[in-house]
Amino acid sequence: MAVSVDLIAKAEQTHRLELAEIAGLLGEADCEQQLAAAADRVRSAYVGDDVHLRGLIEFSNVCRRDCSYCGLRRDNTRIDRYRLSEDDIVELARKAKGYGYRTVVLQSGEDLYFSIDRLCRIIRRIKALGMVITLSIGERSYEEYQAFREAGADRYLLRIETTDPALYAAFNPGMQLADRIRCTEELKTLGYEVGTGTLVGLPGQTMEMIARDILWYQAIDADMLGVGPLIPNADTPLGEAEPGDWHLTRRLVSLLRLLLPEANIPATTAMETMMPHGREIILNSGANVVMPNVTEGDYRRKYALYPGKICVADTPADCRACMSGRIKVLGRFVAQDEGFRRHQDREV
Ligand code: SAM
Ligand code: SF4
Ligand code: FES
Repeated sequence: MAVSVDLIAKAEQTHRLELAEIAGLLGEADCEQQLAAAADRVRSAYVGDDVHLRGLIEFSNVCRRDCSYCGLRRDNTRIDRYRLSEDDIVELARKAKGYGYRTVVLQSGEDLYFSIDRLCRIIRRIKALGMVITLSIGERSYEEYQAFREAGADRYLLRIETTDPALYAAFNPGMQLADRIRCTEELKTLGYEVGTGTLVGLPGQTMEMIARDILWYQAIDADMLGVGPLIPNADTPLGEAEPGDWHLTRRLVSLLRLLLPEANIPATTAMETMMPHGREIILNSGANVVMPNVTEGDYRRKYALYPGKICVADTPADCRACMSGRIKVLGRFVAQDEGFRRHQDREV
């Protein structure tokens, strides 16, 4: 434990740790509180006490991929598929603006029905509302990423899930880690703010593998880092797997803050699905972003990545009021600005 305290102090001061040091802290359950406290200090110093809210629009649950953990996977026949119309997506964004969100996150399965033309039209119409746009629609070609960027998309979330090639291949059939890395690099080149992250609890995943994920996030200078535990879905091949370790995921969030102090880090829905008030705990452990759902009606339930998803019976207005209240209780406040990544060294 004494060694861990020294390592946490080193991380807080230098924002650098070696692979074995990171793996050691990830595996050390006793250091969780100290890690969270250090991450909370670094969060306050680097990105402030405000919390950025991003309105999440789950616009299609159709997917051409077959990830072994995800309820949207192509081979899952026990899910009601839907696609929102262009007008409905833009209308949800307009309402999100009315709730005071400055950013919408457009998320879906890998649904090629949403072609370059269709998506660019949607992006332009939402941009015209004066909103920042984050896309989270999976792997596309450089030309598509370029067209979306030119149409006005600002940010892109594409979790790497794991940087271990064998683990990646095992749970993402037909996909390759090299493609995921290439997409991430292309998005960076095109000037998107890029989000990545780890799916914690893939069977066979080790602390060293997660530590390598973190070093890769540092190497690519990730702007956003979203991580969550695996929540087994009975309609997928990983239905019988052990759930990801919530506490390990919390330690990971804290280490991400210590080692990438400027990044925007969400307290993810999966963290609260596994633990009541999980998002507040994570906001106090290094995170500074929440992505409340602005999808309406039964589509929330139908966007069924995993069971037990929170807020499926709530409305966008419920979630907005709920999150404002909870953030206030933490002694924090809802950010009023657009919430782009801060660059300490460039602000002087
Ligand atoms: N299709 C896009 C993609 O894969 O990047 C975006 C949507 S996908 C549903 C968003 C994230 O959901 C994935 O990056 C994955 O980490 C997470 N996810 C999927 N199934 C999950 C599960 N059973 N438990 C926890 N997270 C899961
Ligand atoms: Fe499709 Fe994304 Fe789910 Fe994989 S994680 S099956 S790409 S929605
Ligand atoms: Fe949806 Fe609390 S965030 S009801």
